This record gives sequence, structure tokens and C-alpha cells, in this order.
Amino acid sequence: MSRLVVVSNRVAVPDAQSATAGGLAVALRDALQSCGGVWFGWSGKTAAQTAETPSITEIGPVTYATLDLGRKDYNEYYNGFANRTLWPLFHYRLDLAEFSHENYAGYLRVNTLFAEKVRPLIGDDDHIWVHDYHMIPLGRELRALGIEHPMGFYLHTPFPAMEVLLALPSHALLVESLCAYDVVGFQTENDLRAFRDYIVHEANGEELDATTMRAYGRLVHTEVFPIGIERGQMEAAAERAVEQGAARRLERTLHNRSLMIGVDRLDYSKGIPDRFKSFERFLELYPAHRGQVSMMQIAPLSRSEVPEYKNIRDTLEGQAGYINGRYGDFDWMPLHYLTKNFQRETLAGFFRLSRVGVVTPLRDGMNLVAKEYVASQDPQYPGVLVLSRFAGAARELDTALLVNPYDHDAVAAALNQGLVMSLEERRERWQSMMAKVRENSLEHWRERFLKVLRAVPTPMALQSSR
Ligand code: G6P
Repeated sequence: MSRLVVVSNRVAVPDAQSATAGGLAVALRDALQSCGGVWFGWSGKTAAQTAETPSITEIGPVTYATLDLGRKDYNEYYNGFANRTLWPLFHYRLDLAEFSHENYAGYLRVNTLFAEKVRPLIGDDDHIWVHDYHMIPLGRELRALGIEHPMGFYLHTPFPAMEVLLALPSHALLVESLCAYDVVGFQTENDLRAFRDYIVHEANGEELDATTMRAYGRLVHTEVFPIGIERGQMEAAAERAVEQGAARRLERTLHNRSLMIGVDRLDYSKGIPDRFKSFERFLELYPAHRGQVSMMQIAPLSRSEVPEYKNIRDTLEGQAGYINGRYGDFDWMPLHYLTKNFQRETLAGFFRLSRVGVVTPLRDGMNLVAKEYVASQDPQYPGVLVLSRFAGAARELDTALLVNPYDHDAVAAALNQGLVMSLEERRERWQSMMAKVRENSLEHWRERFLKVLRAVPTPMALQSSR
């Protein structure tokens, strides 16, 4: 089997902390372990200047190659264009998107640099798999350096509707860059449809069949590959964790009250302020639950140098104080709001203890927390998932209580419904969701994508068929 070259903004180099690596990191590492190859990207560290040469760590058949980013590159590429322009725009937050030509130049500069630095690490028969919005121009840059290898790209975020994307001054180059790849994968049909719309109506391209598009003089295979979680991993983790210290202690503090839980990176796309408003409405509209149920929101800090992320933190602190001040009692705290990070196994135990999982992003590519909540449940006494219809996961987990997160009264009603639902209905809904979680596992996602990528004719095969 040919080697794989993975390029992504962050690289999960195995180290002493590797036990905490997320599912995606593990899945990509496993793929690299089995066929050998390279994982290239940012080291996660900053320096005065961007490093000239990547740091190399060889582990078995895998080479991890990472670059430290200089402050200017870090600010313009990562904090700037990736996280202040593309991230809000791709999550339909035009109001938060900033268009700075300097940041855009920084984004292109880092992509050009990454292409130059990964180029010497690419072997003749390798397949290349590039990940996420930070790296869209990378494929085009590699093609400019003469790389004709099969190249795939996977977008972990939503792809916005054409009308939203058109607000980006550099939309044309961005989409043309996507077409430099042979395979472009999306989370949901919505995202794929939005991409097709752009190709057909804006880029003068055409749809040749269900998966093939012709645009900018190239053929691109486009397909939906919904990402999943590791098969069996979360179920086993939850079974173990619920017996261990943290979950036991949490259970003791509940005093037989019900728990509702939300776990999200502290990001405005996750809809946490709206969730808090919905929780407040829930306390207002369903007073019988006062004193009987608490909500725990775990929101580890993320991208803290980006101003919009600082703002949302202030908002949430204000809201949490207000709700607890207004409704709390000397022996009951309605809302527990923590920005602390927990190990995934500990979270699995918390999920299993929680009667309701609250996953209400305003927009999300997939949202794996929804799937992790489902996988962590006790099959005999499963909890209820309240899920935003704007999360990619809603396409598969359609027996969750699907809500519009902007409609606070409707979310409040769903929280109530989750708490009073019969055990029979909980089991029915959960079984149907669990079947989907098992079927569309992370391994399945990875293998499906790689199968399509490996079916792309290599330049050698093309030459011999001419
Ligand atoms: C999202 C993105 C990922 C990113 C992650 C964490 O899931 O799709 O590419 O790695 O957020 O964000 P961070 O900025 O810390 O890498």
C-alpha cells in the first residue's frame, strides 16, 4: 500500500501526553502507522520567527514534521485569516467575520511555506490528505511546485451557502484552490450542495455526475463523509469512568437531582449564550424542576487571543452569575459553569450520569460531542440528547430531540421533555441513534475517504493509459 502524507494545522505527535489525544488524532495516526508516511503541520508553538526547517520525530514508519510559527505568521494566518475570517464566515457569522488584506496575505504566505517545506518529504507514490480550513490553498501551492500526486482535502467545518461565501473578497481563489485537489470531502449533504452551487452558478463549472465536478480545467471528486467517533472506545470509557473517582464524586454532589450537561470548546459557534438563555427560560416556564435539576456546562478556553473569544467569555460569566443569583438557593446551584479541561474518559463518565445531553450549536460541521454523549449512555437507562438542527450530527441522529437553538422557549420545552420522557421512549430513541454512531464510526470515515483517494488515477497510471 502506498504511503500517506497528512497535512493539517495541528499535528498530534505522540508523546508523554498522547493518552489525551482526541479521536481524530488517533485515527490519523493509526492510518499512518499501517501504511507509513508523514504528518506535517504547525507545532502548536510560537517563536520570534517561523522556523526554517521542520522538527522531525520518527516513530516506526511515521515521520512527524512540525514547524514553529513566528508571531507575525501566527497572528495573521492562525488568529487572523483562519480564525477571524474563515471560521466565522464558514459558521454563518458574517457579523463577526473580519476581512483584512494583511491577514489574508499571511494565510497565503504560511500555506506557500508549508507547501515548500513538505515538498521534500513527499515520495513518488505517496497519497496526500490535507485537512481543514487553515490549509485550503496548500494543494494549489503543491501543484505549482510540480506535485501531481493524488491529493484529497477534507473540510471539518460547514461549507457556507454561496450567498455567504460571496462576502469573502478572496472567495474565487479559495474555491479554485479547493479544485486543485482530486477529492474534496464534506461533513453533510448541505455542505456539498453549497459547494456545488458555487461551482455551477459562480465558477461556471459543471456537475458531470453525482460525485464528479468539472471546474477550473480540472475534475474533482466531491462526496459526503460524515465523521464519527472511535468504535467502542467511548462506550468502554464510560463504563469504566462511571465507577471512578470524578464521576462518583459528581454523583454524590447531585443528591439524586437530575443533571443536564453541555461540553463545548468556548466558541461562539457552539451557541452557549443562547443555551444559557434557554436554560433560564426552562427554570421560568417549568418551576417544578427548580431545585431538582442542575445544568453543568464545561467550556474549555479556546483561541483566547482572538477578541471575539474574549467577548463571549465575558458574556457567559455574566449570564451564569445572573442565573445562579436569581434562581439558586443556599443548597442548590442551577448552573455549573466550568472552563476547565477534562480527560475524555472523565467526560464519558459525566455523560453517562447526565439525564440530558445539551448540544445546541448555532452552526457546526458535525459535533462529535453529540455522538460521544450517545455512545456513553447506559443501554438500560439511556439519557436524552437535545440537539441543534444546525449541527451536522442532526442528519444522522434524527431521533434526538431536534431543536432550533435560537428559539429559547422551544429549547426549554425540549429540556423539560428530556427530563419527563418515559424510559421506553428514551430507549427507542437511543437505540436508533446508537446504531448510527456505530455504523458511521471514525474508522469507517477514514477508510471510506482513503478508498476514494486511493482510487484516483496516479500520474503514472494516466501516462500509461494515454
Ligand atoms: C475545530 C476545527 C479544527 C481545530 C479545532 C480546535 O474542530 O475544525 O481544525 O483543530 O476546532 O481548534 P484550534 O484552533 O485549537 O486548533
